[in-house]
Amino acid sequence: MSSPALSSPTMEGGLRQMAPVQLRAALANFLPKGASAAEQTRAIEAGLRSPVGQGMRDTMARWIVDEIVPVERLVPPAYIKWRPPVRDAMMFVVARLSPARLAPKLLEQLELPLDTSAEVRLLRLIAKVPGLQKLGQVIARNQHLRPALRNALERLENGIRDVRPEDVVAIIRRELGPRVEKYGVKIAPTILSEASVSAVVRFTWRNPESGKRERGVFKVLKPHIPEYFAEDMDYLQGLAQYFSDRQHNYGFPAKLLPDTFKKVQRLLRHEVNFAREQKTLVEAWSLYRSMRGVRVPRLIQPLCTPRLTALTEERGIKVTNAAARLPVARRRKVAEQLIEALVAVPLLSAQQDAIFHGDPHAGNLLYNNRTGELTIIDWALRERLSRDQRRHLALLFLMVTLRDPVGTCNEVLALSQQHIRSNSPRGRMVGEFITHFLGELPVMRLSSGVDAMLLLERLAMKGVKFPGPLIMLSKVMFTLDGILGDIGGPDSGLGFAIARHVAEHWITNRKEFRSPLKTRDWVTLQCSALLYTGRLWLQCEQAILDRLLPAGTTSPFAPAQ
Ligand SMILES: Nc1ncnc2c1ncn2[C@@H]1O[C@H](COP(=O)(O)OP(=O)(O)O)[C@@H](O)[C@H]1O
Ligand SMILES: [Mg+2]
Repeated sequence: MSSPALSSPTMEGGLRQMAPVQLRAALANFLPKGASAAEQTRAIEAGLRSPVGQGMRDTMARWIVDEIVPVERLVPPAYIKWRPPVRDAMMFVVARLSPARLAPKLLEQLELPLDTSAEVRLLRLIAKVPGLQKLGQVIARNQHLRPALRNALERLENGIRDVRPEDVVAIIRRELGPRVEKYGVKIAPTILSEASVSAVVRFTWRNPESGKRERGVFKVLKPHIPEYFAEDMDYLQGLAQYFSDRQHNYGFPAKLLPDTFKKVQRLLRHEVNFAREQKTLVEAWSLYRSMRGVRVPRLIQPLCTPRLTALTEERGIKVTNAAARLPVARRRKVAEQLIEALVAVPLLSAQQDAIFHGDPHAGNLLYNNRTGELTIIDWALRERLSRDQRRHLALLFLMVTLRDPVGTCNEVLALSQQHIRSNSPRGRMVGEFITHFLGELPVMRLSSGVDAMLLLERLAMKGVKFPGPLIMLSKVMFTLDGILGDIGGPDSGLGFAIARHVAEHWITNRKEFRSPLKTRDWVTLQCSALLYTGRLWLQCEQAILDRLLPAGTTSPFAPAQ
């Protein structure tokens, strides 16, 4: 039901010029008096679809960014640079969201009490908009943000309430059908955690194999996701393009903004793919089964469907919170477990194509302080690297550690997707770039895996192409580096001294290391050299070295077996 007032030709121009306050009054007047919420929503929807719809959207978008959730309030002064892109991104989405999704949000904002906080208004605005919720989450996990902003964004993340517990229970019952009876499934009446795409609830069931009642969690695809998914992917794609076209306007590194939107898209695409995560969980479980102190939840296959994943319930809390309660010596152990589990295990795996966790932020790493076990959850995002790629990668870490420009260049060229010969002009450009890069690294710090990854990123910016999984691994290393930094710990020069000793040994015995991956210990050592940057890591390094090279060992690298 379209209102005559809205379709008048002068209306469009009028709308565009209207100040937000006037818009609010105009809208309130325009809405049919005494109508139900559904009727009012339909009226707004009709307005959005009418010829003046675009003008209405533009004004509303301004109303939102200037009044409802003012960007100045949302983005603190320390991040002033972020205000323009945040403002533009919000306008972009409001300009594109389908009328059916936008209309109820506008009505809701009109009806919220005037003194409602910006935070609450924002939460309502992004309710059931998985693309924006996910975006908030990705930014919240950026290690470079100041703690205050990170906390604020985390509150946002924890504030998602798109589904009611009873609806989630109903979905589970519908998905399982007769299996509820068959396995004696009892579902908890509360939601354990809710994120953009899924909600998690606890349950118990009778496991016919053990004959016992066991605990598990269901990860449930939220009901609106299938309907909204395509639209969210569309505007994220649009945002990536928009910011890629205007990358010079905002004063950020060229690809930062488009890459952020692409990451959000990738996360969403994989998170809705429950079947894929279920397969990955099985694979990951077997990859880690023999590793003590590291767990992956076990898939409860008989209770899984394409919209429902059933897993064993694991104990533990977010690793950074857990570590904060531990004495320094135990924090070191946690850091060591993290590096071994997330980098060393996949890098050393004997499989042809080994998987690695693609999103190991602290919330996906549960730590149990009582048992000292680390559980890696949330396997929606994973990648694979071939044996050959991993071999070159290990060598790259070594070569960067050794500041060896020729060796580094060889490994970079081997890892690149193009066939660049080292004596071609392009090959020489890469060589010079590397020499310069290595020369700039601080002398007194043995280089870390993060330096090698930084090198790959810089080269990628120069147009050298690397396989996607490698790029993802570099992101994983940065994330891990940030977590190690959060876990924290005192400095120690000892690990550094040992690492330098090892490096010197490598330099003088270069030939032996040409086929390093034949020796498992060698690679483990190399992995241990990956992440020095966290101050804490120096000590982990020592712990791993002590285990592999007990005192008295003279030639740790003597003949490869
Ligand atoms: N196997 C499990 N055992 C215990 N808690 C779990 C388990 N799987 C998930 N959770 C809880 O649910 C939350 C969300 O699960 P996760 O798999 O990370 O999905 P997403 O981050 O996509 O919502 C986790 O942070 C954790 O608190
Ligand atoms: Mg998660």
